[in-house]
Amino acid sequence: MRAEQPDGPAGSTRRGLDVVEIRKMEAADLDGVMVVERQAFRHPWSTELFRRELMHDWSTILVGAGRPTSAVPGQPAVLGFVIYWLVHDEVHILNLAVHPVARRSGLGRRLMVEAIERGRRAGASLVTLEVRRSNFPALALYRDLGFRPVGIRPNYYVDEGEDAVVMILDL
Ligand SMILES: CC(C)(COP(=O)(O)OP(=O)(O)OC[C@H]1O[C@@H](n2cnc3c(N)ncnc32)[C@H](O)[C@@H]1OP(=O)(O)O)[C@@H](O)C(=O)NCCC(=O)NCCS
Repeated sequence: MRAEQPDGPAGSTRRGLDVVEIRKMEAADLDGVMVVERQAFRHPWSTELFRRELMHDWSTILVGAGRPTSAVPGQPAVLGFVIYWLVHDEVHILNLAVHPVARRSGLGRRLMVEAIERGRRAGASLVTLEVRRSNFPALALYRDLGFRPVGIRPNYYVDEGEDAVVMILDL
């Protein structure tokens, strides 16, 4: 954990953004989540897809939520999110994104650690994910958390014809 990110539910990022809490997404967070999603991905999920995800019992979306501070007026309320499925003994990470203004401040790590811990408490023994071969920031984060590559899915991201690296973490 970075020095700027103390353990616990609250903390202040390197850029003075206030991460108040990591909690389950609510319907009221949808607009904020969509801002982060669109900033993070060339082919963002639709609002409808997020709405549907919120209804699935097996799916959890955690958000890193902030509040306006004097240091950064008008900072976005949702600074990042992680989506995971819990199926049998496996946590599958579907999506992780942090708003550009909040990157490199430890929020991506905190979201992943929280998802993993919730999965562990629910009895999971394995965490899996796919990541683009070229996504060095994400690959670095996952390796740092102990994930190891176990295979390649060729042409998994069809739009760009890019391979996915499959990574797993044993709990
Ligand atoms: C990947 C992503 C979620 C990381 O979020 P973040 O909050 O910036 O990451 P953190 O600050 O928690 O970084 C944790 C560790 O990840 C690694 N890391 C993160 N960003 C990095 C970068 N740009 N270059 C190299 N390593 C990086 C580092 O090991 C870092 O630890 P350090 O800061 O102590 O060196 C963010 O870059 C993002 O939203 N990217 C676009 C969406 C995306 O690619 N999602 C992943 C899909 S699989």
